[in-house]
Amino acid sequence: MTRIAIIGGTGLDQFSVLQNLRTEKVVTPYGETSNVLNIGSLDGHEVIFLPRHGERHNIAPHNINYRANLWALKQQGVTHIVAVNVVGGITENMPPERIVFPHQIIDYTHSRQHTYSDENADSVMHIDFSQPYSESIRQCLQQVAAGQNIQAQSSAVYGATQGPRLETSAEISRMERDGCDIVGMTGMPEAALARELDIEYGCCALVVNWAAGKGDDELITMQLIEQHMQAGMASVRRLLTRALPALLKL
Ligand code: HPA
Repeated sequence: MTRIAIIGGTGLDQFSVLQNLRTEKVVTPYGETSNVLNIGSLDGHEVIFLPRHGERHNIAPHNINYRANLWALKQQGVTHIVAVNVVGGITENMPPERIVFPHQIIDYTHSRQHTYSDENADSVMHIDFSQPYSESIRQCLQQVAAGQNIQAQSSAVYGATQGPRLETSAEISRMERDGCDIVGMTGMPEAALARELDIEYGCCALVVNWAAGKGDDELITMQLIEQHMQAGMASVRRLLTRALPALLKL
């Protein structure tokens, strides 16, 4: 049976369309999750919502306990995850407020707990990660977006950086040469951990600024990011609300 979780990112710390909300605290061998799990229903189906930065948005990208979060969702029987991430736009089709469903990722993060194959594991796992995102989730999101007249980019390469600082212009130029279309700080190791746990994982990214050196503005201000986030997240919420019934049929 399909069981869906949404991992909310910056700008989506709560997901109020769920009814009959209850919370569940899950104990994991990897420590505490970012938040208690919010479990609610939509159209009679249970959906789990987990804000990866915590409900008070106080956990920085490099301090998120990705292993505990994914482990807790697996323990709840989750089969499919839609991860929401805000990103900077690098290539020309990725302007602020554009919704993007990436198909590939390049990992520039470091020093994060990025695998369950640690010293306590019985054996080392070498997952296939050639296609890091679930094709069925990506197509589902794309179809629902098209049906809702929500402009979305159906493929992109996500460059995952360490943060919490934004990048230099030279770093973004290098990422562009590498083939990245968007840049964010929370795409990894989340996607790989989901694969290790055999959970289908798709990403709904929202562009909230031009990446360093890409826009007309000299500086990337939090004020500008906030403005694009408010506007764009309204579309993300609408998209997710409409997509859930379709995702539940996967
Ligand atoms: N860089 C990295 N992460 C981000 C950005 C960015 O420009 N915007 C939103 N998240």
